[in-house]
Amino acid sequence: MVKKIALLEGDGIGPEVTAQAVKILHALAEKFGHQFHFEKALIGAAAIDATSSALPQETVDVCKNADAVFFGAVGDPKYDNDPNAKVRPEQGILGIRKSLQLFANIRPVTTYETLHHLSPLKSKQLEGVDIVILRELTGGIYFGKKQTSADGQSASDECSYNRMEIERIAKLAFAYAQQRKKKLTLVDKANVLDTSRLWRKVVQEMAAIYSDVAVDYMFVDNAAMQLIINPAQFDVILTENMFGDIISDEASVLSGSLGMLPSASIGDSAALFEPIHGSYPQAAGKNIANPTGSILSAAMMLDYFELFKEATLIREAVEWALKNNYVTKDIDSTNYYSTTQIGDIICDFISGKITNARDNREALQNPAVI
Ligand code: IPM
Ligand code: MN
Repeated sequence: MVKKIALLEGDGIGPEVTAQAVKILHALAEKFGHQFHFEKALIGAAAIDATSSALPQETVDVCKNADAVFFGAVGDPKYDNDPNAKVRPEQGILGIRKSLQLFANIRPVTTYETLHHLSPLKSKQLEGVDIVILRELTGGIYFGKKQTSADGQSASDECSYNRMEIERIAKLAFAYAQQRKKKLTLVDKANVLDTSRLWRKVVQEMAAIYSDVAVDYMFVDNAAMQLIINPAQFDVILTENMFGDIISDEASVLSGSLGMLPSASIGDSAALFEPIHGSYPQAAGKNIANPTGSILSAAMMLDYFELFKEATLIREAVEWALKNNYVTKDIDSTNYYSTTQIGDIICDFISGKITNARDNREALQNPAVI
């Protein structure tokens, strides 16, 4: 298979973590006889520095011409505390979501037994936790009309949704539920918001069609609490843009490290894959960031290409690495490996250079390497 992939490394640790995933994709291509061609393009603060726009038109064109977009992270502290900044790195990712119409953000929350001790929750509560969050990504308050009054003393952000926007992602959420534990939870604020009442109405109508899926409805404040007290009750969570942003960060701590989690953003004719973590500027250039979120995002991209065997091999390699304590500093602060070492180890596993010989790798275990 030949695929063209737009590579948007972005800011902070973006270039370091995506480099590991790219290395692994090349190893897989070699093993299975595929060709993955990467074309780099600028986004975020890196693009602002070079072109004064967070999303140059050239980047949009590269993405539109590709079979998929592989994304690192955007964000730079120099913009965070400046409410007057007219251009912001985040405009890059928001702009690409909108221009490719990536309406569904899929965030699987997987827990690994070896990482239970890192979660703020007790190990017992984490048993059986396996959630997929489907977050609407191109509507709602993120993209509604924004206004600041001339005197700068009042501001508003509009939240609006229409039936089509809800139906297309709900359809996907029902399909996910059908392939999993057949449970779907719509998270909204239907006791207060008109938009949420529309979400509920549309999903209730669809629930009658997907009669094999058990649907329940939960207010977002309660959902935030339930995710902590009983996360195992959830299977597929469907929600609007802003609620999804918040609860997916919350849910990510269940897994023990934000660095572990991948995501896919899907539209009718385009798809983008990125770890859910941000640009983590404090770690940039230090070769300590966890590349697993990016590596597992590559697995989600391979699923999208219907290269299921290849995707499974990545997931097996990640699990094998975790089990054998090949982890980065966020997971073990005394015995850890660098970002590039983790990438190399997973490549070696994929190319069959490691069978199960933990011992052969001992020499790599050198915290001083970073
Ligand atoms: C995310 C991020 C983005 C969002 C930011 C960077 C604009 O937090 O992907 O969740 O809010 O959607
Ligand atoms: Mn977020």
